Amino acid sequence: MSKVHKIAVLAGDGIGPEVMAEAIKVLGTITSKFGTQFEFSEQLVGGAAIDAKGKALPEDTLAVCEQSDAILFGSVGGPKWEKLPPNEQPERGALLPLRKHFGLFANLRPSICYPSLTHASPVKDELIQGGFNVLCVRELTGGLYFGQPKFRKEIDGEMTAVDTMVYKKSEIERIAHVAFKAAQGRRKELTSIDKANVLENGLLWRATVEEVAQSYPDVKLSHLYVDNAAMQLIKNPRGFDVVLCENLFGDILSDEMAMIAGSLGMLASASLGKAKGDGLYFGLFEPSGGTAPDIAGKGIANPIAQILSTALLLRFSLGLEAEAQAIETAVRKVIDDGLRTGDIYSGAEGTRKVNTREIGEAISQAI
Ligand code: IPM
Ligand code: MG
Repeated sequence: MSKVHKIAVLAGDGIGPEVMAEAIKVLGTITSKFGTQFEFSEQLVGGAAIDAKGKALPEDTLAVCEQSDAILFGSVGGPKWEKLPPNEQPERGALLPLRKHFGLFANLRPSICYPSLTHASPVKDELIQGGFNVLCVRELTGGLYFGQPKFRKEIDGEMTAVDTMVYKKSEIERIAHVAFKAAQGRRKELTSIDKANVLENGLLWRATVEEVAQSYPDVKLSHLYVDNAAMQLIKNPRGFDVVLCENLFGDILSDEMAMIAGSLGMLASASLGKAKGDGLYFGLFEPSGGTAPDIAGKGIANPIAQILSTALLLRFSLGLEAEAQAIETAVRKVIDDGLRTGDIYSGAEGTRKVNTREIGEAISQAI
């Protein structure tokens, strides 16, 4: 009998459950077309878990994740839980601890602008004609997100907030290797982002990336300060191949890239730990776009980021390359056929506005 792949399914809040339903449908089609067997375990996380169990990351959710081959994650958070103490909120109580617990230091965010979707981008057509494909490699378990000390308290009679940016050389090295290896499989161009003109972290980042570059003579490395990068990415996205960032810079620039590509609803992501002996990775796969509370429950969200995240799960955690490509090809086909959720619909001739379920079904059928 062939292997049954165990997937922990954490849909979370907002549009999470709606877009997750379409991703699961797509995996059902993968089973019927390829015979690949999956076992899904749906678990509560984020605000949904706070409401049902009093905490954002319940023990049984974590236990199921530990016993699974990968985590398929929706999104967490929303106005309902924003008044809770910060560490109990969905983001800091569930998502960040999951990343840290599993050592998921490498976050890959492929920002793809499909040629037929350039109109959805706020950027002028002439700058993105033909589309583009930029991979953001974001460090995910260090920097300002996790550095200690981290507090808000009264100091000398005044409220004071402290976040600490910390990177060890080894943390920079391991993410740099991920980025160089990714570049080797692409156009072989890597842009490393830092703020070496101001931050000690930036100096160490740049020097370490330079050192790691010695092992990858085939990759062309360049450096940009983060403010300049924000500008260059919007001016000439086609000029970039792989972009390497620390945690906060990657958070910001990956949203920028998603929007330049047309919609946050298209940006998939893979958060990976160290490679296992078999060359595969334990990972958490999630759309980068968040819970979109304004459209949650309406059935109109774009499920493509969730579906493409599922393809990344098949590729990186299960080694199912053919199945991953089948999903990616199906997404491309449905876009070429003119189906559009509201976020990417512009009324152009030959296109049709559809809802979450319709586009999910069309992608399933195209596999
Ligand atoms: C992301 C999100 C998260 C982050 C939030 C929800 C904590 O913005 O994955 O980009 O900042 O990492
Ligand atoms: Mg973000």
